[in-house]
Amino acid sequence: MLNYTRIMRDKSFLMIPGPTPVPESVLVELARHPVGHRSKEFSDIFMSCIESLKWLGKTKNSDAFIYTASGTGAMEAAISNVLSPGDKVLSLVTGVFGKRFGQIAQAFGATVEMITADPGKVIDLKILEQKLSLDKNKEIKVVTITHSETSTGAASDLEKVAKAVRSHGALLLADAVTSLGCMNIEIDNWGLDVVISGSQKGFMIPPGLSFIYVSPKAWEYYKKSKCPKFYWDFGKHKKSLDEETTPFTPNVSFVYALKKSFEMMQKEGFENIIKRHDRLKTRLRAGLKELGLKLLCEDKDASAAITAIYPPDGILVSDIRSAYKKDWDITVANGQDILKDKIFRIGHLGFVSDRDIEMTLAVTKKIFEKLT
Ligand SMILES: Cc1ncc(COP(=O)(O)O)c(C=O)c1O
Repeated sequence: MLNYTRIMRDKSFLMIPGPTPVPESVLVELARHPVGHRSKEFSDIFMSCIESLKWLGKTKNSDAFIYTASGTGAMEAAISNVLSPGDKVLSLVTGVFGKRFGQIAQAFGATVEMITADPGKVIDLKILEQKLSLDKNKEIKVVTITHSETSTGAASDLEKVAKAVRSHGALLLADAVTSLGCMNIEIDNWGLDVVISGSQKGFMIPPGLSFIYVSPKAWEYYKKSKCPKFYWDFGKHKKSLDEETTPFTPNVSFVYALKKSFEMMQKEGFENIIKRHDRLKTRLRAGLKELGLKLLCEDKDASAAITAIYPPDGILVSDIRSAYKKDWDITVANGQDILKDKIFRIGHLGFVSDRDIEMTLAVTKKIFEKLT
């Protein structure tokens, strides 16, 4: 077999859960000369992206901000704007990113309790409800959750979690980094307080921007928050947004790219985006199972963005990944943390089509014929 990695570099194909493939029309936007970020031209593009963010998160009540930062920056923004040192936080941990949310809260002086699910599972709703009902003195101020846990591919029922948290009264911070733009999220209807996401996932642009939604209830927390903040300060971003600008220099080129990707998303339509991700997930999972592969998550918990797969007995994850890469120039991801070298992960979010899934399945079949 020819070594495609060497001879056809431009055909490299990312099937990892971010960064995801970027449409050519979006890439072209990145090549524009930058414009001044205080110009009317930029303000118009920026404000249209803010409106599109609200469209995507189905919210009229929350503010939406764009940070020049990766997703973790938005996680830190969420924590530092609503907490004070000593506040009690309940972190629902379904993997690496759920743990990271708790760790950021710890770094800002919060007292964090983590409830941790087994790998590939989500937190049992009954356990959460029981935990919250035992908190008679309402000491838990904030609950954090990862909607689609990228390290395992497990998706929590965010609507039900939000309902439980709302009836307790705590503030809910939701990491929607690999779910926004792939899975239905209704910020207003479900009562989500702070929601964060990142550009390199369902948004179909490269890594570099993150997004955050702030509900009226989260603003009440902001007023009392004593954690240090400057770059992330919601108040600074809100003041600037009211003047149709940003407090600091934004990544102008990426905002142009974002505007283009929103145009594509709106042309496809919200419902169609969600249906496509659901269809790709269902087809990939069925095809992998037909090949005799075992998946980490059960169908009921499966994220529409990423699927984690066990290697067949006797085959190393490193050999599988290198076969995808060397023979086919397809990149798939390793497991992370305790799942490193125990699973491999295929991302199917953002600019991914039915053809990509069929191709990935056909390649997967060939790879295992060769490796077994
Ligand atoms: C669910 C989730 N949360 C948070 C992050 C962190 O985002 P970043 O790596 O952009 O800082 C990621 C990144 O993959 C993620 O998948």
